[in-house]
Amino acid sequence: MVLTFLSLCARVCHKKSIVNSTPGVKTMQTPIGLAVSPRDIHFATDQAHGRAWMAGDPVATAVFNALSLTFPDGERLFMDAVRNYRSNLSGKLLEDAKGFIAQEAIHTREHVGLNAGLDRSHYPIDEIEADIKGRLTFLRTRGRVAMLGVTIAMEHFTAMMADLFLEEPQFWDGVPEDLARLWQWHAMEETEHKAVAFDVFQEISKNWKPSQRYGLRVRIMLIMTVMFVSNITKFSSMLLIADGMKPWKARLSVLGYLFGKPGLFRKSWKAYWDWFRPGFHPWHQDNSATLKAWQDRFEVAVSQQVAAE
Ligand SMILES: [Fe+2]
Ligand SMILES: [Fe+2]
Repeated sequence: MVLTFLSLCARVCHKKSIVNSTPGVKTMQTPIGLAVSPRDIHFATDQAHGRAWMAGDPVATAVFNALSLTFPDGERLFMDAVRNYRSNLSGKLLEDAKGFIAQEAIHTREHVGLNAGLDRSHYPIDEIEADIKGRLTFLRTRGRVAMLGVTIAMEHFTAMMADLFLEEPQFWDGVPEDLARLWQWHAMEETEHKAVAFDVFQEISKNWKPSQRYGLRVRIMLIMTVMFVSNITKFSSMLLIADGMKPWKARLSVLGYLFGKPGLFRKSWKAYWDWFRPGFHPWHQDNSATLKAWQDRFEVAVSQQVAAE
C-alpha cells in the first residue's frame, strides 16, 4: 500500500522532471562516454577559519559546516560499500567504481582540511564527530548490502544538492573564491559519479525479484531521509547554539534555511520523489550539459595548478 502510494507520487513528479530536462536529451542510463576521473586539486580551506564564511550568514555557514563534518566518515563508508563489491564488477563499471573511490578519497581529504579549521574550543566538534562515527559504525554492522543501500540513498541526496550548487551559481555570491570552488568541484564530481554506486547495486541485485530490489531502495531512502534531515538540523543547531543563539531559534533558523529560503532541500523535491519510481535511474535527471560546462572550467583550473607546481 505504502509502496504503491510512493510509486504513484513519483510517477507524477517524473512527468514534471522530464518536461524540465534538457530538450532532445533522453539519457536513460549512465551516459556511455562519461568518464569518472578524479581531479587532485588543493583548496585554501583556511579562508573559512573563525568566521561566517558563507557570505557572512551564520545559519548558512552552520549548515555547510554541518554537511562538511558528515563528509569524511560518510564518504569513507561509501568507498568501502563500493569496494566490497569490486570482485563482482568488470569493464566500464569497474573503471567507474575505481574513479568513484578515487574521487571520494580526495573529497574526504579536502573536507578534513575544511573541518580542521573549525574552532574546537568554541564549537562542539568532538561531540558531533563522535555522533557521526557512532551512527556509521552501527551501519557498517548491518552488512554490505545495507552499506551499499545507504550509499545509493545518500548519493541521491548529494546529487540533488550538487545539481543545485551547479545550476544556481548565485548560491556562492560573497563566498571566498577558493571555498566556493571547493564546493563546486565537489558538486561537479558528485554529479559525474552520481550513478556509479547505483549501477553497482543494479549489478549485484540483478537476480533479485523486482519487488525485493524496489522495496529495499524505498525502505532505505525513507530511513535515510529521516536520519539525514534530522542530523543536519541537529548538528547545524549545535553550531549556532555555541555561537550564542537560543536553541529554539537555532532549530527554526536551520529548518527555514533547508525548507524555506533559500530551501537547500525544498528546491530538490521533484528530484527526491523521482527516487520512488520503480524504474528510477540517477541519469533520468539529465544535467549532463551543466556538468560539461563545469568540467571545462575545472579542466583549466587543473592545468593551471600543474603549471604552477
Ligand atoms: Fe564526495
Ligand atoms: Fe559521492
